[in-house]
Amino acid sequence: MSARLEGKIALITGAAGAQGRAAAMTFAQHGAKVALADIDEARVNAVRDEVEAAGGEAFAIGVDVTSEDSVRRMVEASLAHFGKLNVLYNNAGINNGGSTEAERDVDVVRLPLEIWQRMLNVNLTGVFLCSKHAIPALISAGGGSVINISSTAGILGSLISGHTYSASKGGLNSLTRSMAAAYAKHKVRVNAICPGSLEPLMKFGIPRTPERQKMLEANYPIGRLGTPDDVVQLAVHLASDESSWTTGAIIPVDGGFTSTS
Ligand SMILES: NC(=O)c1ccc[n+]([C@@H]2O[C@H](COP(=O)([O-])OP(=O)(O)OC[C@H]3O[C@@H](n4cnc5c(N)ncnc54)[C@H](O)[C@@H]3O)[C@@H](O)[C@H]2O)c1
Repeated sequence: MSARLEGKIALITGAAGAQGRAAAMTFAQHGAKVALADIDEARVNAVRDEVEAAGGEAFAIGVDVTSEDSVRRMVEASLAHFGKLNVLYNNAGINNGGSTEAERDVDVVRLPLEIWQRMLNVNLTGVFLCSKHAIPALISAGGGSVINISSTAGILGSLISGHTYSASKGGLNSLTRSMAAAYAKHKVRVNAICPGSLEPLMKFGIPRTPERQKMLEANYPIGRLGTPDDVVQLAVHLASDESSWTTGAIIPVDGGFTSTS
């Protein structure tokens, strides 16, 4: 495997999840050392062990991205372990895994405030807090890359993902652009990847039937759902110096979904 990320230290949130795990493995294969953080400590420790078993270097820590103290500790511990930070990979996120229509968030009139606040807290405030505490370290390293995992729901809106998820990812796209403008002078680049539906899907309250699978696939001109690897390959480029003139970009990785009507 090439060493496109040799010498880079990447902090990945949500690293116990499907995409976070894929990012950890692939970044390590490309030569990065990875700090892995997730609210699920047991699962993030298992991902660390997997990276190390494959010959990579990894550090794992529990974090709740909605808590400023917890995020501060995550950044401090990662810096104490590796000495610097070059990449912040904001990947932790939740969706509307509820089982009732109100919980699924497709009817704003019946949407409980608690669901709105919880999702915005993780998907948007979490990125704000991680950026707030990690960007000074990227600046100290002479510049770096922030990669925000957004969603096509942040570009188009979505009645599958729901109002709050769409709002959280739309907000994340705007935060991406404004942070890109603010930190360009410090050589900190900020970009967002907007995946369409990926296998494995995040857990929506809607049952997964063969009909529903067909309906989902029909949305994608390329004829299949995405995979974590589709996202991570672009993330490697954004984390590396290959993309040194790319900042403020909101990039769909969606098999053509947002290009059709
Ligand atoms: N799977 C898809 O189809 C899809 C599509 C578009 C965008 N996304 C986005 O991709 C990102 C990764 O999702 P995934 O598909 O790997 O889902 P996932 O559920 O497998 O992973 C999400 C991870 O975030 C962690 N997490 C949740 N709340 C947290 C908190 N408060 N603090 C720290 N960690 C927390 C979870 O424990 C989990 O490990 C999310 O931001 C999601 O919105 C997913």
